[in-house]
Amino acid sequence: MQSENLNGRGPTITLDGEEVGFVPGESVYEVATRAGKAVPTLCYDPRLEAFGSCRLCVVEVAGQRVPVASCTTLAADGMEVTTASADIERLRRTLLELVASENREVKVDPLRGIASQELTTLVERYGACRGRFDGAQSGRTRADDGNPFILRDYDLCISCYRCVRVCAEQEGDYAISVANRGFATQITVEFGGHLRDSACTFCGQCVQTCPTGALADKKALRFAENGG
Ligand code: FES
Repeated sequence: MQSENLNGRGPTITLDGEEVGFVPGESVYEVATRAGKAVPTLCYDPRLEAFGSCRLCVVEVAGQRVPVASCTTLAADGMEVTTASADIERLRRTLLELVASENREVKVDPLRGIASQELTTLVERYGACRGRFDGAQSGRTRADDGNPFILRDYDLCISCYRCVRVCAEQEGDYAISVANRGFATQITVEFGGHLRDSACTFCGQCVQTCPTGALADKKALRFAENGG
């Protein structure tokens, strides 16, 4: 596909000075990733509609006054994109410091899910300082939710909505949702109730997409605790 485009039969963008072909409808993030660029993400899951909330995937586009989220920006023929300037990397580090300062923990047990190390990995990659923006914390753990399967440790939640989106877009269950806005945002189920009383089928998709370990499989954790 790429060689066809570079032969003049399709659109291209310039990525860090290199011409790269794309298929109309692809996002800048998708093109950049395919070209081997390590653009960081937190709210992105390739199975889901791009959401654009974490802003970590920002890139510079020639002619644009401010950096744009590459996951929600479609590639356009002739676009000139810089994926990792000093300004962009500084912005990403600051965004990570905002997220990490609010989180009770950044290092979490890898058994909390296959995506659970994403925030940890990025904090380490960028050397993001955790205490820089210390202050209030949004999201609270539902310690009273006694369901036997899914740990809901919302002290670690960064409101990326990946759990809500995977539940709706992949499972079609719409069991979990978002209450409130801004700092008061809280992942919840209908009427603020318990997961076991909701439409949740305990499929575990939310656990596997969570990038911070805020959600976890209780059985896996118990298994590990008991030595297998
Ligand atoms: S990955 Fe693009 S805004 Fe979060």
